[in-house]
Amino acid sequence: MKAVVDRDTCIGCGVCPSVCPAVFEMDDEGLSHVIATPVPAEAEAEAKDAADSCPVDAITVE
Ligand code: F3S
Repeated sequence: MKAVVDRDTCIGCGVCPSVCPAVFEMDDEGLSHVIATPVPAEAEAEAKDAADSCPVDAITVE
């Protein structure tokens, strides 16, 4: 599974790294980016939760 953050859409709310720190991290610009590709099997459920939790639907998991 792969996770993608649309950085043009991310508003830097910080939810995704708090839900799934194995895959998402905030950067110096205050936006999220993916730090684990592919998503580790043990983090897939959390990554999906993070995508569902993003208030602006900036995260795609596939
Ligand atoms: Fe950004 Fe959504 Fe994460 S707004 S910080 S991608 S939860």
